[in-house]
Amino acid sequence: MADNQTKRVVVAIDGPAGAGKSTIARRLAQRLGFTYIDTGAMYRAVALWALRQGVRFDDLHRMEQLAMAATIELAPGRIRLNGEDASDAIRTPEVSSGASQIAVIPGVRRAMVGKQREIGERSSVVMEGRDIGTVVFPNAAVKIYLDADIEERVRRRLEEERAKGSTVNAGALAEQMKERDRRDSTRADAPLAQAPDATYLNSTGMSLDEVEEAILKIVRARVTNGKEYQKESEARSQKSE
Ligand code: DC
Repeated sequence: MADNQTKRVVVAIDGPAGAGKSTIARRLAQRLGFTYIDTGAMYRAVALWALRQGVRFDDLHRMEQLAMAATIELAPGRIRLNGEDASDAIRTPEVSSGASQIAVIPGVRRAMVGKQREIGERSSVVMEGRDIGTVVFPNAAVKIYLDADIEERVRRRLEEERAKGSTVNAGALAEQMKERDRRDSTRADAPLAQAPDATYLNSTGMSLDEVEEAILKIVRARVTNGKEYQKESEARSQKSE
């Protein structure tokens, strides 16, 4: 087994759309000193490129080519696609639906999983998506399945949309989210599923702080002597100084 100096830790967070994965994963990564990886943003970037190139989402061969050729760089909350900042462009309803459609293609998934494993092999990560604990890092030290009731997930997404100035209607948004969840959890290749060894957490009615603390407790229980864990302790002691 790797010693403390080289040990890398993977915290995998999976769950349906709107469960709060991104917000929580970003906060946890900051707290732990890990790299935050939003894998949904990667599928979104490929869908955006397809839209711009006029490639149909059901063109398996060309979609796989795009996924393999895409240069994707991630920074917390930002993404660059082929050198261009695409952070806002990937957040449209068209791209959300497109990402879920191209995510059923095995060749696209292979390309994305390869990139995700490369990142996870370089540093400790908090990685969130749909198949992180089941497929990308089945040996992740910590696996969380983060859920929330559908009404709450729609309400949270609606708030995010309204904050951006969008006038999306609640009924239409609920339908889009349900359709995406249905497609993401019924596809043949790496569907959204809770890994048998994942901890299930339903965040309905919980504050962000409460969810963060609940997951940190699990991280502490499972990762007791990693180098990164020390980083968290250091950050906490600096905070209290
Ligand atoms: O997390 P998100 O809503 O940004 O993800 C967009 C879509 O990408 C989602 O509907 C399904 C797909 N996806 C996936 O299939 N596997 C992942 N690990 C992450 C996202």
